[in-house]
Amino acid sequence: MFRSLFVRLMSAYFVIILSALLIMGVLMSSFFQQYLMETRTRELIREGRALCGYIELYQVGLIDHRTLNYQYQVIDRFLSTTIWVTDMHGYILDSYNSSELDDVNWKNQKVTVDEFVQVLKGNTITRVGSFGEAFPVPVLTVGLPLEIDDKIQGTIFLHSPVRGMNRALWDTYDSLLRATILSSILSMILLYFISRHFSRPLTEMNTISREIATGNFKRRVHVRSNDEVGQLATNFNVMADSLEKVDLMRRSFVANVSHELRSPLTSMRGYIQGVVDKTISPEDQDKYLKIALEETERMNRLINELLDLSRIESGEFSMDIRVMDINETIRRVLIAREDRINARGMDVNVDFEKDVCLVDGDPDRLQQVVINLLDNAIKFNREGGVITLKTWLHKEKVYVKVADQGSGIPKAEAVHIWEPFYQVDKSRSKKKGGTGLGLSIVKKIIEEHGQDIWLNSEEGKGSEFIFSLKEAKKQ
Ligand SMILES: Nc1ncnc2c1ncn2[C@@H]1O[C@H](COP(=O)(O)OP(=O)(O)O)[C@@H](O)[C@H]1O
Ligand SMILES: [Mg+2]
Repeated sequence: MFRSLFVRLMSAYFVIILSALLIMGVLMSSFFQQYLMETRTRELIREGRALCGYIELYQVGLIDHRTLNYQYQVIDRFLSTTIWVTDMHGYILDSYNSSELDDVNWKNQKVTVDEFVQVLKGNTITRVGSFGEAFPVPVLTVGLPLEIDDKIQGTIFLHSPVRGMNRALWDTYDSLLRATILSSILSMILLYFISRHFSRPLTEMNTISREIATGNFKRRVHVRSNDEVGQLATNFNVMADSLEKVDLMRRSFVANVSHELRSPLTSMRGYIQGVVDKTISPEDQDKYLKIALEETERMNRLINELLDLSRIESGEFSMDIRVMDINETIRRVLIAREDRINARGMDVNVDFEKDVCLVDGDPDRLQQVVINLLDNAIKFNREGGVITLKTWLHKEKVYVKVADQGSGIPKAEAVHIWEPFYQVDKSRSKKKGGTGLGLSIVKKIIEEHGQDIWLNSEEGKGSEFIFSLKEAKKQ
């Protein structure tokens, strides 16, 4: 993994460097060559013009030929130039041989190239080549008119070898290559660390995810940075945390289910065994069989609730959301429980803000929610206590409250009551036929509606459960 990522980054880098070098070389050579040529041409023209002045001085006798020759030398030293001074017919009157170019005696030879005529007309010309086979190597030639007293009296040709310029070009290539090699080495070192920075956490995540797949949730990735890779590592750890939690929950769930099923089975078995063995006297048999029947009912309830919970969790129970009247649901549930409420001498206080309260919800599931909350309120209320059922509207939401005046739920327990099988007072709750699954089903249903449920409770004074629902849009 590391190797392949590293090799990929490196080879990509090499391709980039090489193509950059190639493109740069091609561009540089054309730009640089042009630049050198232009600069050299400009210099030659400038020197040629200056030379005009000296030749004029020489012709009027103000300087001698030695001084003029000295000027030729100065130009040659900087520009390696062979110089011709011709008359109007093209015959070379005076010449100077650059040591770098030639040792031909040019004097009295005739310039025959076409450009000569151009120069005589007063134009300045430049040309690259061997200048009509005059030189064995390519030269840059500048020709300009020899003007004395504003009259053209001949021409000046300055020839400078191109080779010298190429040498400058090669020097540049050389430094470019050195710079490239140096920067390649530096970048490679940098790239090594960068690719390691990327690949290390990836390799770690790879190994750890394989471990997670085999069921070991303990290990975490070491987060070294805050960039995208670091964020990925952090998120990976968060994912591992929640996987670990889910795994733990699954284990405890299975343990709880087995336990919850085993205890009623054990007691039923004991009672039935007693009846079969006749260790239970015939007059007591009825009583024990009734207890066994109650246990089967509790088991039946438990299994139904478990099925509900697992169906909701697996998403099998897709919510059938429609417009419904939550007040009507509450009324129906209340009527069905009237006898039980009356039997325990409780009062019910119904407080609906409006008679009809339309919400978006699944009628069957919300009825289940109301049943669970109301059953808890009846179960855990004190004798003769009041049960309050209230609905009201606030900011496009409908709130439903189910409150009792029972023992309440201690603060420390409040966070746990939504967990499957959690019961505050296990033995008392069990006696009342509870399974500890009711509130977890309620919470799941409300969450599936995209809503919330809260508990406000004060120990000894009572509890109130409030959940929200989406108000139905009026058509
Ligand atoms: N209204 C209430 N007053 C006091 N305690 C409650 C109330 N509702 C729920 N509880 C506590 O929360 C636990 C979980 O409730 P629930 O999930 O409905 O399980 P069950 O009703 O089957 O025991 C109950 O066992 C009880 O301890
Ligand atoms: Mg309950």
